[in-house]
Amino acid sequence: MAHSFHTSPEPRVIRAPARLSGRIRVPGDKSISHRSLMLSALAVGESRIEGLLEGEDVLATAAAMRAMGATITRGDDAVWRVHGVGVGGLLQPAQALDMGNSGTSTRLLMGLVASHAISATFVGDASLSGRPMGRVITPLAQMGADITAAPGGRLPLTVRGLVAAVPIDYELPVASAQVKSAVLLAALNTPGITRVIEPVPTRDHSERMLAGFGARLTVEQGPRGRVIALEGEAELRPQSIVVPGDPSSAAFWMVAASVVPGSEVVIENVGLNPTRAGLVTALRMMGADIEELDARTVGGEPVADLRVRHAALRGIEVPPDLAPSMIDEYPALFVAAAFASGATVARGAEELRVKESDRIAAMRAALEANGVTTEEHEDGLTVHGSGGEPIAGGATVATQLDHRIAMSMTVAALHARTAITLDDASPVATSYPAFYQQLAELSGETV
Ligand code: S3P
Repeated sequence: MAHSFHTSPEPRVIRAPARLSGRIRVPGDKSISHRSLMLSALAVGESRIEGLLEGEDVLATAAAMRAMGATITRGDDAVWRVHGVGVGGLLQPAQALDMGNSGTSTRLLMGLVASHAISATFVGDASLSGRPMGRVITPLAQMGADITAAPGGRLPLTVRGLVAAVPIDYELPVASAQVKSAVLLAALNTPGITRVIEPVPTRDHSERMLAGFGARLTVEQGPRGRVIALEGEAELRPQSIVVPGDPSSAAFWMVAASVVPGSEVVIENVGLNPTRAGLVTALRMMGADIEELDARTVGGEPVADLRVRHAALRGIEVPPDLAPSMIDEYPALFVAAAFASGATVARGAEELRVKESDRIAAMRAALEANGVTTEEHEDGLTVHGSGGEPIAGGATVATQLDHRIAMSMTVAALHARTAITLDDASPVATSYPAFYQQLAELSGETV
């Protein structure tokens, strides 16, 4: 196996540093990394990928694409090379596909398998096995795939693909880029035109990359929302891809530099696709000092370096329409809110309940235990801030197999009176293996 999953918890104690300063480069975007491996594996010929996120989630996708016939290697130059099998060419995997903690791998690969003449069983860790897959099963079943799942539409789950699958027009009932992408990936090997109607725009990396690989795809604004139409059976041409840095990973440093007095950090290579950059908007509304330097385009995506300096934050009502563009950043935002003056109210974010953990309940418990007052809502959280003072800290946090809870509470600990302990920091490896090393560098510790 190219990747390994956690077997034993790794507790970690986080103490507040004097300040954070320096420059760091965030790892490749997780969403884009998954898509780059999948589409390269479906192109005929060799694609190369630079800046791929080498976290456990993405390695799970790589292992699955290998199990279905692609040749995937990593050079000593950290460039990944993928020899694809062509759309329609995926092979029957010999064993169940181990998705680890990765919802994106699972849902997108279910789409790929749905229109191929293969069957695949998906298994995952306890967190992933509790997450709803019905949202993907419904449209893929309409396209003709035969899917059997554990009760409640959960993993373990088996998809038996259909050739030829049936094109559908599908209006997304939840704002989910994973559901959108699953249908579009299934559409690649489906004759005719498949349409996804998206009432609320979500991250558009799939659309951008599918077009880049030569798929015939149009995006239009219709009366019910964005209409993405993809013509199968597509032929994808191999590409050379540069993956921009992950704004969801940059989020932790944006918040950390904002809340730790005396800090100044330059975060290099941050992807700022408007469908992902909601946290920058929200933090600026709170009074954060975030400067964009050297704005440029990397791999078809807007990128900049961000200079973030400590600032006095104030509580806000987070506009609910920012939710899709910062859905993974709410745990970090709640930490920023814990140090603001006044209350921050975040509503309209009920999707947080079905992420790697129930992020509303998990962050509420973690913050409360460390001296922060909160009010839980079905669709969000209100956080009462310290007005810039350190929070009490001192408690142990249950990270619940959720990398973003672990990293967010690490940031909270950076301005706490007493150290905060994570019961298990190992989930950080799913999206950000170098996180603690970079924290040590910014804290001025020798590593
Ligand atoms: C992702 C979409 C989002 C996000 C996840 C990655 C993607 O999930 O939370 O971390 O790469 O498409 P949903 O589609 O469930 O909103």
